[in-house]
Amino acid sequence: MKCHSKNDPNKIAIIGAGGVGATTAYALMVQGIASEIPLIDINKEKAEGEAMDLNHGASFVKPVEVYAGDYSDCVGANIIIITAGANQKPGETRLDLVKKNTAIFKEIIPQITKYNQDAILLVVTNPVDILTYVTLKLSGFPKERVIGSGTVLDSSRFRSLISRNCGVAASNVHGYVIGEHGDSEVPVWSLANIAGTNLDNYCPICDKTCQSNNREEIANKVKNAAYEIIQRKGATFYAVALAVARIVRAIIRDENAILTVSSLMEGQYGIEDTCLSLPTIVNSTGIGKVLDLPLNSKEENKFVESANTLKETAKKLNL
Ligand code: LAC
Repeated sequence: MKCHSKNDPNKIAIIGAGGVGATTAYALMVQGIASEIPLIDINKEKAEGEAMDLNHGASFVKPVEVYAGDYSDCVGANIIIITAGANQKPGETRLDLVKKNTAIFKEIIPQITKYNQDAILLVVTNPVDILTYVTLKLSGFPKERVIGSGTVLDSSRFRSLISRNCGVAASNVHGYVIGEHGDSEVPVWSLANIAGTNLDNYCPICDKTCQSNNREEIANKVKNAAYEIIQRKGATFYAVALAVARIVRAIIRDENAILTVSSLMEGQYGIEDTCLSLPTIVNSTGIGKVLDLPLNSKEENKFVESANTLKETAKKLNL
């Protein structure tokens, strides 16, 4: 297996043992995609409790060592997943968290890089695009090795809602949400397809009689999913953990999978010096290639607007 460094390809450290961190450990464990998972949290007791709970399932999964660690346990990790930070309260946007979580990242990132200079950093904490950019700046790591979970989750929400609407398995629906993981995100309807057929051509051959405004309803449900869930159960963690596990698998297995992760833009649609999501080839090097696919002009304009929103927010941080 090709690995970009001397790190253990199957050692995955997780910073933050809250709902997202612990559920990510669970997803990695159940899918058998890691052999060693240190869980690192400012509240070590919480990390210990999660590690015990997870380890008690050892007889049901492939061998894996989960333990409560500290930053020195980042040594040798192939991927370091960062989930630590404050999460959204009901009514809060992701961007509202920017100051609090940037301050937390200023503590965390130097501790990670002290012990590991070769890992891939996978940022999950919100606002994920801004914090991916913050991580890139604070770590000094090459852009290929700083990845945000971005809109991988939103693209999955998009596919699952189209799947239900059209009565087709989600795995047979292809579509991407790009831009900010947040309020300015952009569903790319022009590229969404079922059985290789774009939706404009697929719809007439489908027996259902949906309204064209279904698209707006689906897009809104995708965009507002986290608000809806947080209002009901206080937090989201299952689907985001599966999205993170999907990214980890693409890296560990050198898949060249196309995922809408967040990474540094270098001129795509004229955008530079901002992190946000576009369909991206993800492999053992991290970011393989960011694809600037042909969008229609409305989608392209919305993507540029989304990037500008993030750029303005990041500018205020004086990094
Ligand atoms: C969500 C959080 C992870 O969208 O931002 O569920």
